[in-house]
Amino acid sequence: MRLILLGAPGSGKGTQGPLLAARLGATHISSGELLRDHLADATEIGKLVSDYVQSGDLVPDEIVLELLREPIARAVTSGGYVLDGFPRTLRQAEMAFQQALPLGATADAVVYMAVPDDVVRERLQGRSSAGRLDDADTAVIERRLRIFHSETEPLLEYYRNRGLLVTIDATSSPQDVLDATLAALSAR
Ligand code: AP5
Ligand code: MG
Repeated sequence: MRLILLGAPGSGKGTQGPLLAARLGATHISSGELLRDHLADATEIGKLVSDYVQSGDLVPDEIVLELLREPIARAVTSGGYVLDGFPRTLRQAEMAFQQALPLGATADAVVYMAVPDDVVRERLQGRSSAGRLDDADTAVIERRLRIFHSETEPLLEYYRNRGLLVTIDATSSPQDVLDATLAALSAR
């Protein structure tokens, strides 16, 4: 199965991603985790993206596309993918679609994990002691939320029009969110 998880920061993409991947026999691929690995290893890419990630801005589309190309291609040959944090702009979605189309690797479904902004604020502030630099500052959390609404939310319409969108109430417990997502996917 090839799945895209769409949701605000703190909606639970990173919580559900590995659980869904395990249940679906797919590979969890998080753009944010890959970027943070580069930051931690101080690679060339890490240096290039550091300011964006730490200030809560989106990294340029080309960098993210290049970073994900191989992991996605590998996942497609072994059970599919659960994409967490990508695509995040209409341009990324269109570029990813064009790359995936000839490979037969376009997404089967897009799960929108719906949570109100106040739940996001509570969750991310609660996690800020866990060491994510972009959770440490409320201004950065607000910026990520704003960018989600302006850049990523338009993808809901994009995928709804393609008949791919499944909306899940992501405010309940992680187990309930997982069960609801699996039920919604198998009902499609
Ligand atoms: P990314 O790593 O994708 O971060 P994000 O979207 O801001 O989301 P988070 O990882 O903070 O939240 P999540 O939805 O994974 O929730 P989680 O499960 O952790 O991106 C980081 C940065 O990288 C971006 O700002 C950007 O700079 C760059 N980037 C990444 N992808 C990019 C792209 N495609 N293009 C350009 N730039 C890109 O949960 C959050 C908290 O809530 C946790 O503490 C968790 O325990 C808790 N929680 C989860 N589920 C529940 C629940 N059901 N009930 C109660 N608590 C819960
Ligand atoms: Mg995450």
